[in-house]
This record gives sequence, structure tokens and C-alpha cells, in this order.
Amino acid sequence: MHHKRAPTFGSIFRTDSEKLLPPRAPGSSDDPLLAALTTTQEQYIATNAQSYKAHEEACHDFPGGNTRTVLHASPFPLTFVEGKGCELTSLDGTEYVDFLGEFTAGIYGHSNEKTATAVAVAMSKGWNYGGQISTKGNWHGRLVVTERFSPSGIELVRFTNSGTEANTMAIAASLIVTGRKTILAFKNGYYRETLSFPASLKGVNINFPYDFVLALYNDIEGTKAVISSLAKEFIAAIIVKCVQGNGGCIVGNKDFLKFLNQTANELNAVFIVDKVMTSCLLYHGYSFELGLRPDLVTLGKWVGGGMTFGAFGGRKDDGIMSLFDPQIGILGHSRTFNNNIITMAASCVGIDIYNKDQMERLNPIGESLKSKIKAVLEKHGVHPPTTIEASTSPQNQESESPFTGLESGPSLANGVAAKLQQHESGGRAKNHIWITGKGSILCVHFSRECEMSLKALYWHHMLDHGIYMAQRGFMALNIELGEGHVQRCVSAAEEFVVKWKQVLR
Ligand SMILES: Cc1ncc(COP(=O)(O)O)c(C=O)c1O
Repeated sequence: MHHKRAPTFGSIFRTDSEKLLPPRAPGSSDDPLLAALTTTQEQYIATNAQSYKAHEEACHDFPGGNTRTVLHASPFPLTFVEGKGCELTSLDGTEYVDFLGEFTAGIYGHSNEKTATAVAVAMSKGWNYGGQISTKGNWHGRLVVTERFSPSGIELVRFTNSGTEANTMAIAASLIVTGRKTILAFKNGYYRETLSFPASLKGVNINFPYDFVLALYNDIEGTKAVISSLAKEFIAAIIVKCVQGNGGCIVGNKDFLKFLNQTANELNAVFIVDKVMTSCLLYHGYSFELGLRPDLVTLGKWVGGGMTFGAFGGRKDDGIMSLFDPQIGILGHSRTFNNNIITMAASCVGIDIYNKDQMERLNPIGESLKSKIKAVLEKHGVHPPTTIEASTSPQNQESESPFTGLESGPSLANGVAAKLQQHESGGRAKNHIWITGKGSILCVHFSRECEMSLKALYWHHMLDHGIYMAQRGFMALNIELGEGHVQRCVSAAEEFVVKWKQVLR
């Protein structure tokens, strides 16, 4: 017999009912940003009627119509029906140049023929063998032992189904080998929902119940203080990203990262470098360039050739990865799809497609986009706030939500314009726009006072100019993009700056 339970779970977190656009608050039309946003959202709903309908239908089966939080956008996300090269076509028939690049997993664009052929060939021989698949083509050798990732510390590897799983396994192994319980991570570090350290997501996170201690990214002194407040044999692992991609594209400071590596060594803790997103920035990885020597490295996204993927690995002399040797049988890791034929085939060819030449072509395009946008801002007298110049300062670490980027403050996630952050009316608020990033991974930021409304307006503005990117300002370039696309993006950004420069200066 079913025990009927009162539907109370979740009600403590629930805010307003889901309404696309509320009635305009009295006086809101005096505020140019709020008024513009309301109008823009109304236009968005009208011009994307099919996506809206798809969203409404999806709401019947998925909470908020969503099965992947990061894809949520306010007032609703676009639904796409086709991807070709670097272009995406929405359900309403609009074409966009893709500057989101599936958060780097889509670095190959949307229709690379080599990938399609490799997957088709692999599938022509059947799938789901429930056995080892052939490593013909020397898959393991090419990924790990040869030139690409072994210099950065992966000599033995395990494939996973996601970056999250790779990080989870790396942490689990660290706890076992050290016999300790605590992990040092960094604010705004984002290793996925179960390993996520945003300032707050409505005060709730769903982290694994590990003992985490947090320090500020790029803050050596603060990190030293955190560590010295703990007993010496306390920390099992330090997990860090050399560039905080999802945390707002903040580049790790060289001294900071070296300090962490050295500290992990001194404490006999495992040093884990999460390269799930950023291994596309340099051929052997940024950690290699910096001379870091991680004990474990995690990979994901683009390395899977555009398919479901993750990996963790380490050096042979470290002995950690050998614990996964089933002949010894100490640590198990038996995910059903670790060696799925589609990913293995796509990944194998992907690593060739995104080769050194491509990488050395793509990352300068990203740098060029960043410099051009910086030049536009300079030209129009719009400067980053001096305290957050280049956003490498820890100060900014409270403002980025790793999810849609619009949820950290009063909820815009519900599309409730009336809940936007309040700011001075008449365009006199002191605001800033600036861009951070490294190579092909970039993020446009707005300072706090009007962050939500400006971010939302910027996103809509870029969509109106045929540029698709994350609503929180994140961009990851793909190899199908060229200078012409970059120029289009820069021109659209310039138009936005010109339009709002009274508010932005
Ligand atoms: C740095 C980093 N680590 C881990 C993950 C998780 O990867 P996945 O989404 O494949 O689980 C992400 C995803 O965005 C990431 O950016």
C-alpha cells in the first residue's frame, strides 16, 4: 500500500510561481535597464514562439523544462534543431554563430565529417559488447603515453563518463591513499554540482559529503592561513584548476599554483589538477607550461571528441593509478560506459582533429577576440573596476554563479524581471563591463550593481546579432570559427557598449 506523503519537500526553497514576465512594477519604466529588459524579453518571447512552446512542453516532464541546469536561460532557453560547422539553427528557424562551443566539448563545431565517419564505422560493427573493445588504432597510447598528456602527468589513465566522475574518482583515490578526509578546494571552483563551491546558490548546494575546506583562488596568504589552521596531517588532497573556466574564466596565478603544488608535496597530500575544460588551451596543458607536477589529472569535454567523456590519470611512479589494477583489486571502477564504442571512436579521431596546429590557430583567435573587445571598451571610455582589473583578484570570487550565471542574486532564473537587482535609476549607476579569459575560453563580466540586468541585456543583444553564448557571459570558441565571426562578435559588443555607455561609465 502506498503511503501518501504531503507534498512539502522543496517547499522551503520555492519562491514565486513560474511566470514568464510579471506585470511591470509601478515606476519600473523610469529605470532604463529594467524597461529595456522587459521590452527585450517581450520581443524574445514573440520571436522565439516555437522555442517557448517547446519549453512549456518540456516543463511537463522536466523540472523547469530542464535536464541540464547550465542550459537554463531566462526567460527560457532557445531550442536548437540543427548544428552545422559553427552555426546553430533554432526551432524558430533563426541561425546563430556558436560562441558557446558546448563549454569546450563542442570545440570541433557541430558536423565534423571525420567524427561522423569514425562513429559510423565503429557502430557498423555493433556495440555494447560487454567486453573489452579493440584498442586498435592505439587509442590508449595516443591519448596517454605519447606526446599529448603524459608530460602533464597522465601515464596511466581510466576513462569515465563525465568530468564529474573523473574528479570524484580522483578525490576518492586521494582519500584512500592518504587515509585522510579533508580536501582543500577554492571558491568559485566548479567540478560540477556535487563538487561545487559557488558563494551560494540560494544558500544550497548538493556537494558530496566530503570534508571540504575552502580558500580564495589566487590568494597565497589566505590559503596559507587556511592550511595553518589545520593539523599537519589533515589534508588528503588539494584540487585546483589552472584556469577557473566556469568560475568566470579567471586565470590562475603562476606563483599561486606553484605554491599549491609545493604545499601538497610538503603535506604529503595528493595534488589534483582539474583540466576538464582547460586542457584545450595548451598542447600539454597549462599545468605543464607552469612546470607543475600533479599526482592526478582529470580530463573531459573536448577530449571525448564531442561525446560523453571523462578521464583521470596519474604517473606510474606515484602508484595511485595502479590501485585500479583489477589484478590487485584494491579499488574498483566499473562504470558501464567507460569504454563505450562511440566515445572511444570519436575521441580517437578528435585528438587528431584538435591537433597542435589547430590549437595554435584557435587560441590566438580567442586572444584576438579578447583584445578587440578590450580595445572597444577602451575606445568608449568603459573601464573595468580598478579593484578587479583583469579579474584575477579574489574579490570577484563571490559574484559568479557557475550555473546560468543569473541566479546568484535575486532570482532571474524564473524570468521575473521585477526581482532584478535594484539599481540607481536614470542610468547614473556606476557599472562596469570587462572581459577575462585565456585562449579560446572567455567571459564577459558586469560589475555587481546592475549585473543581472546588464548580463541579460547583453545576452539578448548578442542573440539579436546572431551570436549564441552562455547567458552568464561565457564563451568557448570552436575550430570552425574564423576572423569574420570574431569581427561580427566584436561589432555586436561595440554596439551594445555604445548603446549603454552612459550606464557603463
Ligand atoms: C573544470 C570542470 N570540471 C569538471 C566538470 C564536470 O564535467 P562533466 O560536465 O562532464 O561532468 C566541468 C564541467 O563544466 C568543468 O568545467
